[in-house]
Amino acid sequence: AGAVPSIAALSDKRVLITAGPTREPIDPVRFLANRSSGRMGFAIAEAAARAGAQVTLVTGPSQLTAPRGVTRVDVETAEQMHREVLARAAQADLFIAAAAVADYRVAAPADQKVKKTETAQHLELVPNPDILRDVAALSDGPFTVGFAAETQAIVDNARRKLTDKGLDLIAANAVGEQQGFDVSDNTLQVLWSDGQATLGPAPKTQIASELIELIGARLDATG
Ligand code: CTP
Ligand code: CA
Repeated sequence: AGAVPSIAALSDKRVLITAGPTREPIDPVRFLANRSSGRMGFAIAEAAARAGAQVTLVTGPSQLTAPRGVTRVDVETAEQMHREVLARAAQADLFIAAAAVADYRVAAPADQKVKKTETAQHLELVPNPDILRDVAALSDGPFTVGFAAETQAIVDNARRKLTDKGLDLIAANAVGEQQGFDVSDNTLQVLWSDGQATLGPAPKTQIASELIELIGARLDATG
């Protein structure tokens, strides 16, 4: 908090960040989405820019204004987000996946508005690509940071995601009513291969600065 320390490890580094929800169309006027506001990702983008990084923010629909100096790329669906991220990931030094990406999309969205009289009883869903997993799998890819939104067994589930997706660091937060999504205060459990830290509870803007500082320190430590 207070004066912003310049973080040498992030100065002039290319940082790619995802934020917000995704929207998965059902028909031209309807979609599946979630409660993400984009606040965490936008706050991280701001903190990274203030630390001297060149920041690109790939975001699903959000009311928020991109921080000054940040390149904003707007997307709607998980597939669009995947495409825009993978087009830039190899050139990035650091990737932070703060978006709440829909795990599934509608298999065959209707071309025309679905009528009440022809309601399907079921929406057929198919899995979306895992953007974070695909970036982490790049050989010579960026330092990769994931989030884990959990309603239970937060640390255990997050450590499993860290290992399973091959991440460098993961930030886990409790989500549910009044927690995590669409609220401004947050607590993060941050895990990496041989360490752990707790950030907050604090406003997302402060958590974001502390997370960027911590990532800077890990980048320094791992070279
Ligand atoms: N993520 C992603 N692409 C997806 C799904 C998730 O990039 N298609 C990223 C999120 O941005 C987040 C991390 O993966 O950084 C974990 O998301 P989360 O929903 O907590 O985990 P999942 O792996 O999707 O597992 P589950 O929803 O079953 O807990
Ligand atoms: Ca998920």
